[in-house]
Amino acid sequence: MKKKTKYTVAVIGATGAVGRESLEILEEREFPLEALRLFASKRSAGQSLSCQGREWRIEELTPDGPFEGIDFAFVSATDAISREYGPRLAKAGVVVIDDSAVFRMDADVPLVVPEVNPHALAAATRRIIAIPNCTTTPLVMVLKPIHDAARVKRVVVTTFQSVSGTGAAAMNELVEQTKALLSFKEVTADVYPHQIAFNCLPHIGSFGEGGECSEETKIVNETRKILEEPQMRVTATAVRVPVMRCHSEAVNIETERPLKPNEARALLSAMPGVIVFDDPVRKLYPMPLDAAGKDEVFVGRIREDRSITNGLNLWLVSDNLRKGAALNAVQIAEAVIARA
Ligand code: A2P
Repeated sequence: MKKKTKYTVAVIGATGAVGRESLEILEEREFPLEALRLFASKRSAGQSLSCQGREWRIEELTPDGPFEGIDFAFVSATDAISREYGPRLAKAGVVVIDDSAVFRMDADVPLVVPEVNPHALAAATRRIIAIPNCTTTPLVMVLKPIHDAARVKRVVVTTFQSVSGTGAAAMNELVEQTKALLSFKEVTADVYPHQIAFNCLPHIGSFGEGGECSEETKIVNETRKILEEPQMRVTATAVRVPVMRCHSEAVNIETERPLKPNEARALLSAMPGVIVFDDPVRKLYPMPLDAAGKDEVFVGRIREDRSITNGLNLWLVSDNLRKGAALNAVQIAEAVIARA
């Protein structure tokens, strides 16, 4: 990409939970915008959204675009849209930063968390860059410094994922079900297979033949790809919880070399984008309500796992719409500009 002073940016899925967050982040970070092109479905076309003090009209996404003149596209709509429009946009010369799982495991598509593997951007030959799943991103940010210092042998992670990870319709479903239950009315479930209010669903994505769900497989494969450790032993259980925003993860880490909790705290404190918030005696540990709207990954409950030789347990919380999606995408665009 040629260096410019300002860039034309497209947001595909602009009206969605991640798309709206992208607009806020472009504004907050004073991204050098020449123009913004907002795309959504026919339902939203003609409405407008504001960013950087200007109103931008939403266009219906159609194969005719036109897409020429766009420098970056943040794509966060559906897998089908990424599959169809990712290559189409790249062909029109656009750097595509894609939030879906469609391209993540392609060998010629970098899967990037700028704090962890910015060097992978050099391999963006197809002009498509993928952002990881919203649970993988905070996990690798925490694993990276621990792996560099003590070599991670095995990771066991359980996730507690908010409904905003599913999108705006799921957030609405949690509100509506909660209101219905508190008014002793009938509850209907449309987005999830079961009631999510006052419940937990050990099921995210679709089930594979071995009984694992697709979200769990993504965490395993993406972690290995980003850390460039194809054999790393990683296992995951993904749970949807009735939380509006922020994903939490309980992480058990076995390392080759010993690493004391205090050493892990120091390593994590030095990691850009990570905040250690760990004072259980004062009842201080990361929680979704506190991490919502924040950019950093918060880590606490760092302690030894005495059931194995070199084991650590920790708890992390990260805003899935920000670092888990929109923020990571904008940081990738900034990194591409810095490399130009
Ligand atoms: P729209 O609001 O017009 O339906 P979320 O992940 O929060 O559910 O958001 C999904 C995003 O993807 C929304 O911006 C939505 O637009 C957009 N989208 C969904 N289906 C299409 C489609 N067929 N064409 C274009 N945009 C779509």
